[in-house]
Amino acid sequence: MALIDVCPVDELQPGSMKLVPVGPLTVGVYNCNGEYFAIEDRCSHDDGPLCEGEWDRDTCVVVCPRHGSNFDIRSGVPLTLPAFEPVDTFAVVVEDGYVKVDVS
Ligand code: FES
Repeated sequence: MALIDVCPVDELQPGSMKLVPVGPLTVGVYNCNGEYFAIEDRCSHDDGPLCEGEWDRDTCVVVCPRHGSNFDIRSGVPLTLPAFEPVDTFAVVVEDGYVKVDVS
């Protein structure tokens, strides 16, 4: 398991998101309704900056800012076209008061 520090728990309140560089990737770490999720900040349709899109705090759905595909933040699965392949997801853990993402 390769854990990358995201931030102290207090800095990722419900309804917030942080972008974290992970090697060549950028990962968006979300707190949606008190649960943590992490997805790659790269749309599976045409590499759009997915995590810069608006997201619904109730349904945990993010909208790609490039062509508007909706993705389920919890699973990475696209819900609307033009994207049809999922984006990568990563496990998130809380350890020693820090939110950490598992990129192994
Ligand atoms: S790049 Fe995201 S929908 Fe096209």
